[in-house]
Amino acid sequence: MTSHWRKGIVVPASAAAIRRAADILRDGGLVALPTETVYGLAADAARGRAVACIFEVKGRPSFNPLICHVTGREMASRCVEIPSVADRLIDAFWPGPLTLVLPKRPDAPVSDLVGAGLETLAVRAPAHATARQLLFALGRPLAAPSANRSGRISPTTARHVAEDLGEDVDLILDGGACAVGLESTIVGVDAGDGLTLLRPGGVTAEDIAEVAGAPVAPACEGGITAPGQMASHYAPRSGLRLNVRSPGPDDVMIGFGDVPGAFSLSPEGDLVEAAADLFATLREADALAQRRGGDIAVAPIPERGLGVAINDRLRRAAAPR
Ligand code: TXA
Ligand code: MG
Repeated sequence: MTSHWRKGIVVPASAAAIRRAADILRDGGLVALPTETVYGLAADAARGRAVACIFEVKGRPSFNPLICHVTGREMASRCVEIPSVADRLIDAFWPGPLTLVLPKRPDAPVSDLVGAGLETLAVRAPAHATARQLLFALGRPLAAPSANRSGRISPTTARHVAEDLGEDVDLILDGGACAVGLESTIVGVDAGDGLTLLRPGGVTAEDIAEVAGAPVAPACEGGITAPGQMASHYAPRSGLRLNVRSPGPDDVMIGFGDVPGAFSLSPEGDLVEAAADLFATLREADALAQRRGGDIAVAPIPERGLGVAINDRLRRAAAPR
């Protein structure tokens, strides 16, 4: 009975609704779910196209990296390296509103789009019973930003999500008002176990420093507005040119639509497919261009829908450095 589960419907987070939500996620759909901080807009983290749909629905003009939600340490350890200081923080604060940015494992079962092509991945185990039940039902990590349109306020009730995203979401699980009501604290852990506060939140820097037995550095003087967004994070080793239709002999061409290439982001000109494959394709094209000693050349991408975020990413990659 599909009418029973029409798109954008808000349903109480019963066992049946959670099973239905897991099915939707397995099929590549989007589910809004309560966490103890704010409502999240979730996709199966392994499905690049579903993750691309998150960016499309949010209407973000750029790909900021998303948090990978997990059941706990075991699921996190499939995705990231966990140094001992992170282990102590996990023991003390998970499940709960602490996100850790850790080195991504090469074999992480997560689309490159979740980490926006970075070498690190943000992981957190939410405490809300509904989020946990859904993660256990799916058995895989969920990529989820806050369930609001870009530039709007983060939602703390299912009604907020319905008002903001409505029918662009396959199902909205209602688990009541969020207890914390403020996004999670984000802490970066570097190779030397150094800790950096990337976003303040419910878990304070003092609590974290006490458990870690080490100081927590502020992100930078004057604060950081969009962690993970620095241009340096986005640099391939090879030069990159945009809006190319006829590549030079040493160029590695990334095509789109009717412009062909050694790679194509989407021969059909589908922007969702292009976004889903963007970071993996850039990586492969970069490796090939390094071997050839040429540049990466990218076909024109239309500046609409997800094309805006794709072009933002490509311009950062092309920026002189
Ligand atoms: O409480 C929360 O964290 C909520 C709920 C839904 O879990 N989620 C949330 O997600 O606030 P979002 O996408 O709105 O914010 C995630 C933040 C962004 O500022 C992003 O730049 C940062 O996390 N981030 C994610 N991965 C990162 C990485 N690898 N390095 C640095 N920053 C990262
Ligand atoms: Mg947000």
